[in-house]
Amino acid sequence: MKKLQLLLLVAAALSAAGKPASKAVGANKLLLISFDGFRWDYDQDVETPNLDQLVLDGVKAKYITPPMLTMTSPSHFTTITGRWVEDHEVVHNMMYDSKTNQKVSHKKTLTRSEWWDNGVLPLWITAQNQGLKTASFHFPGGGANYSGQAVNRVLVEEFDHPDDNETEWRQNVDTVLRWFSEEDFHLVTLYYGEPDNVGHAKGPDTEDRKKIIRQIDRTIGYLREAIDRHSLTDSLNVIITSDHGMTTVKKRPQVEEIILNKYLNLIKLASFEILDYGGFGILTPRPGKEQEVFDSLSKAPNLTVYHKDQMPESFHLGKSERLPPIVVVADLGFNLNSRFIVYVNKGDHGYHNGEMDMKTIFRAFGPDFRRNFVSEPFDSVHIYPLMCKLLQIHPAPHNGSMRVTEPLLLPSGEHNGSMRVTEPLLLPSGGSQLTAPVSVTLLLLVIFTVL
Ligand SMILES: *[C@@H]1O[C@H](CO)[C@@H](O)[C@H](O)[C@H]1NC(C)=O
Ligand SMILES: *[C@@H]1O[C@H](CO)[C@@H](O)[C@H](O)[C@H]1NC(C)=O
Ligand SMILES: *[C@@H]1O[C@H](CO)[C@@H](O)[C@H](O)[C@H]1NC(C)=O
Ligand SMILES: *[C@@H]1O[C@H](CO)[C@@H](O)[C@H](O)[C@H]1NC(C)=O
Ligand SMILES: *[C@@H]1O[C@H](CO)[C@@H](O)[C@H](O)[C@H]1NC(C)=O
Ligand SMILES: [Zn+2]
Repeated sequence: MKKLQLLLLVAAALSAAGKPASKAVGANKLLLISFDGFRWDYDQDVETPNLDQLVLDGVKAKYITPPMLTMTSPSHFTTITGRWVEDHEVVHNMMYDSKTNQKVSHKKTLTRSEWWDNGVLPLWITAQNQGLKTASFHFPGGGANYSGQAVNRVLVEEFDHPDDNETEWRQNVDTVLRWFSEEDFHLVTLYYGEPDNVGHAKGPDTEDRKKIIRQIDRTIGYLREAIDRHSLTDSLNVIITSDHGMTTVKKRPQVEEIILNKYLNLIKLASFEILDYGGFGILTPRPGKEQEVFDSLSKAPNLTVYHKDQMPESFHLGKSERLPPIVVVADLGFNLNSRFIVYVNKGDHGYHNGEMDMKTIFRAFGPDFRRNFVSEPFDSVHIYPLMCKLLQIHPAPHNGSMRVTEPLLLPSGEHNGSMRVTEPLLLPSGGSQLTAPVSVTLLLLVIFTVL
């Protein structure tokens, strides 16, 4: 018996040695799920048995901090590239050209490569270039081409896609799990438009928001059952996160709502603007009017105005070429209206990422993650190197660090469950495609000869 064990170990060592060239093929698969606008504390005033179970079975961060600008496209693109917004240049949900004044709505940007493809490669492309198969299901940025290269499989959200159809949510879970189990995809990113939609329409501190959190919780329960059903429990890591939080918008008569045209004549002083878009605004002063615009905005209450080149370094926005020269950030809960109050949202985001209401969630589970581990908060930019490590690929240059997420992982080699080193012996076809099965077969012959 001792001899057999020794030989098994030798077999394992040899098959491991045969792996490097196909290392990515030996890694576990990865599903990244984003529930848009899931504030960090949304699970604390609702029954969420499945999210609670996830903490026991995996890891949780107390909260995570999105990049400054706490908006959907900029933040998702930081997650999938590991780069600050000033580097990846997706500086708004809307695509715009401040010279021509052309503006394109968020949904229409989803297939406009020129908005996303600015020289920074997202994880899908980097993984594909290293031999992995990847897919994006409704995930922002997945519908663009990068240096002419498309993501292997892409579903882009339809213009009139309903955000809250629970039946469809479950179908989407099964669809992506089939991509893993039947078509051998290695990385899939899956996006849901809730609870953001309800947060905007009804406000974060409402029964409607609690209701959608219960729906998300049921979907996570469904996901876990479905992972078992698709026999992916031992080979799929799952990260569940989001792009920003949500805060209740302050309205009259509680506060005097901000109307910027009261403080400066927008037509006369600005040649381009995107205001009326929550807590974050941008404008380009007409030539020679820079100081006047800055001074006038500085007099407006309940907001902070920045020159692009004098923003706090922690924003990581100042180097952007796309951002116009003036950036306005409203105080928490104040909306930036341009001329009239056209904005009907009851909840919003886009505010300073230091505000607790802008913080969001991070949960993860699967064969490479610890169990029952609660991490200190970290910046969402650090998710990228973690994903590369899980997929065993070389990351593109990025602004994250493994230091902050390393503690979430089981010490390398110590995977939960059956001894992984014996997998090539038990399941030759599921292991490395290279020399391992050959050496395993030879060693099995040796074992039987010795016995
Ligand atoms: C991406 O490239 C493919 C092939 O060149 C092309 O068919 C497709 O329309 C492009 N998609 C986008 C969003 O540019
Ligand atoms: C929800 O999605 C299911 C499955 O895609 C579909 O059959 C159903 O009609 C949808 N319900 C609504 C209200 O859109
Ligand atoms: C908004 O600004 C006004 C005028 O400066 C100030 O009195 C008020 O306290 C501010 N409101 C909040 C919520 O900060
Ligand atoms: C972010 O990463 C890029 C690529 O490595 C680098 O050029 C840039 O200086 C980094 N930004 C910061 C703030 O460190
Ligand atoms: C390993 O994972 C299985 C489920 O895959 C679980 O039942 C078991 O308790 C885990 N063992 C440890 C030591 O965490
Ligand atoms: Zn969002």
